[in-house]
Amino acid sequence: MALLIKNIRELVQVENKPKLKVSGQEMAKLKTIKDAWVYIEGDRISDFGKMKEIPDFSKAWGMKMKVIDAQERMVFPSFCDSHTHLVYAGSREIEYIDKIRGLSYEEIAARGGGILNSARRLHEASEEDLVTQALPRLQEIMMLGTGAVEIKSGYGLSVEDELKMLRVISRLQFMTPLKLIPTFLGAHAVPLEYKGRQSEFVDVVINEMIPRVAAEELADYIDVFCERGFFSVEDTERILTAGMKYGMRPKIHANEMYYSGGIQVGVKYNALSVDHLEYTGEAEIECLLGSETMPTILPGAAFFLGMEYAPVRKMIDAGLPVAMASDFNPGSSPSGNMQFILSMACIKYHMLPEEAINAVTINSAYAMGLSEEYGSIAVGKKANLFITKPILSYEYMPYAYGSNKVETVILNGEVVNGQQP
Ligand code: NIG
Ligand code: FE
Repeated sequence: MALLIKNIRELVQVENKPKLKVSGQEMAKLKTIKDAWVYIEGDRISDFGKMKEIPDFSKAWGMKMKVIDAQERMVFPSFCDSHTHLVYAGSREIEYIDKIRGLSYEEIAARGGGILNSARRLHEASEEDLVTQALPRLQEIMMLGTGAVEIKSGYGLSVEDELKMLRVISRLQFMTPLKLIPTFLGAHAVPLEYKGRQSEFVDVVINEMIPRVAAEELADYIDVFCERGFFSVEDTERILTAGMKYGMRPKIHANEMYYSGGIQVGVKYNALSVDHLEYTGEAEIECLLGSETMPTILPGAAFFLGMEYAPVRKMIDAGLPVAMASDFNPGSSPSGNMQFILSMACIKYHMLPEEAINAVTINSAYAMGLSEEYGSIAVGKKANLFITKPILSYEYMPYAYGSNKVETVILNGEVVNGQQP
């Protein structure tokens, strides 16, 4: 099956020589083609160009070609959301009220709420329940333009419940056209029964969880919530070392609430990404420069928790790449809307629209090890893209925050609007 999209007002984020990521000043560059077409064969992008040079595709009619006339709409590559916790049970709007009344995220967590609250709910839920609850979330983000998404475990906090979460993620992959990347986050919070015996819980993660997760091949990456009140740098080092022995590359939560040393430990263990980074100073920027680790910002969490915003301008100006992701989770970012993340990038982090688009496509694809195949419009890449509603410029995408500008979603070369995930 082939698909031709013609009369595209502007084809955004095209690459002739695909890169794995863009850094520093390069982030302000965004290649586009005005008045364009894109041709898809099977699940891959096969070619693209300007309308005035469109080849004669009539021969392809023999092989069943569908034509979409974009009628001056724009085409973007699908968003890549490299950090979520979207498999969870129930919701936590009661804590949200506590937060409005003045309690901090750490205070809510310290009294047994937060992640522990979600862990209790997850423990009660069956795999079926979790699948049923996750599917509409996947459907929602798909229609908002996401094409690939990382999903973490971390609400299990016990061997069996962590395995349950990861099995749910692997079942979901057979039920959705979205590309899913599973990450094992055994060290997300210390369960109440291990209070005061944190290192024993770390032993459970290392000796019981990691070998089981690896044996069932349930995760590509390993994460730790390296943060004050959660896991120390020392705990993090032990866990990452153990995970790496089983081939799981680190991708960690770092520097969300203070200068935790999380960024440095991530770089030391060649993490694919370090995420959050509200507390990033000169030393952290220095450490990230020249590394293979993608600094990943989660604007939804900073917004929802009313935290500091990471110094993204300083980071990009220093030459770093930056990725952005939704952090979709019930406690600190109950939304997976990457269009909102794009707007936040510009409004709260002073990124140019070009920088923001790079952050949510090619760089966030890199942050889940997918940038060879996702994150831009390039020949041979997966045909994951969307056609917008009628809009006049790509700048309109972050500008008109709060409304859905995506009209037609194409994943793996197929229009998925109206399909169930
Ligand atoms: O990325 N920071 C740790 N984990 C999540 C929050 C999870 C939760 O509160 O349920 C985050 O913000
Ligand atoms: Fe997170």
